[in-house]
Amino acid sequence: MSMKRREWIKSAALIGGSLSMSSALRGMPTAAPLGTALPSDSSHGYVNLSINENQWGPSPKAREAMVKAVSYAYEYPAVPHRKLREEIAVHEGVDPSQVLIGAGSSDLLKASSYVYGLQGGSLVAAEPTFNDLLRWAEPNGTEVIRIPWNDEFSPDLNKISSSLRSDTRLVYVCNPENPAGTLCDTSELKDFCMETAKSCPVFVDEAYIDFAGEADKLTMMGLVREGLPIIVSRTFSKAHGLGGMRVGYAVTTPEIAEKLKLAYVHGVVCGASHVSIEGARVAYADRQWLTHVRTETAKVRADFEGFLDNIGQPFIPSYTTFVLMPVNTDSKVIADTLFNMTKVRISPRLIHGQNYLRISLGSPAQMRKLKSGLELVLAAT
Ligand SMILES: Cc1ncc(COP(=O)(O)O)c(C=O)c1O
Repeated sequence: MSMKRREWIKSAALIGGSLSMSSALRGMPTAAPLGTALPSDSSHGYVNLSINENQWGPSPKAREAMVKAVSYAYEYPAVPHRKLREEIAVHEGVDPSQVLIGAGSSDLLKASSYVYGLQGGSLVAAEPTFNDLLRWAEPNGTEVIRIPWNDEFSPDLNKISSSLRSDTRLVYVCNPENPAGTLCDTSELKDFCMETAKSCPVFVDEAYIDFAGEADKLTMMGLVREGLPIIVSRTFSKAHGLGGMRVGYAVTTPEIAEKLKLAYVHGVVCGASHVSIEGARVAYADRQWLTHVRTETAKVRADFEGFLDNIGQPFIPSYTTFVLMPVNTDSKVIADTLFNMTKVRISPRLIHGQNYLRISLGSPAQMRKLKSGLELVLAAT
């Protein structure tokens, strides 16, 4: 191929690439200017109230930090990674060696199920619950013992305790629980963790803790500080509105942290990017935005629960950013009908033979759209 022809092909490819890129960008919704609150519809052209995204988005300060960090995207993320670990360690009163960062807390769930499943054995958790840790455990050869919720739609801590076996390597508790939205009594959960920790570590997933009240009063982080074998995970995806940036963390004892690093060595977790971590660092410090998101979410939650009361629709009172409600007909049909009518996506569930809908809380405008459609669909089914 002559030099000229090769150059032509290269520049045509570049032009083609930039053309298709700019036409793709033309189809995208315009980003809200920095410094303003988001809420808008998703970038996919429908309202997604099925996967618990935070519709208020990241703090304007975090967005600004991410834009700045893009210029340094050529740098590996080691320095921001270390700084975030130090900042979390200061806030939680632990040593930085006790903080692990992942690309979302899913990374830490995956790492834990991998490391604790290396020798087989069993893992105990509520049924249903958030599935990430469990779904990685089973293909690894770990037996998952699933204990149905108690009558209050919460993890049945007594039954979980009595189901522990000599080969149980890890217990997983999601608090607040997903998909129920319930919160364990703090002192009961503390007693449970202290007792269980005598035989195996407990993984406490606190993804939604900021929406349940004062996180510092509800968290199990204190037990980590006391040196108990507890792993507490948190995420920047929920209260901090950074689901797409993939940053989460776990705080645990130095011994367990060391053990979980095996998963990094074995390449099971991949770590968060430079830009993501710079956004997370600023989001972590921005308590004002966190308060704003928590307050607005609580308002939307109270309004939605009031609406459900008014239309006579039972639901499980929520401590989170979603509400679970039993329905009498096929929940998938309800969700699909609602989507076709309104372009609002919600999550159908089948739990112990009962149909449920799990609906994430969105902005007031999104909830108006949801409520008018849901009322019609529920009345017709
Ligand atoms: C209870 C719970 N834990 C963890 C996660 C994982 O979140 P991420 O990987 O975005 O941190 C989710 C996501 O929906 C969740 O609901």
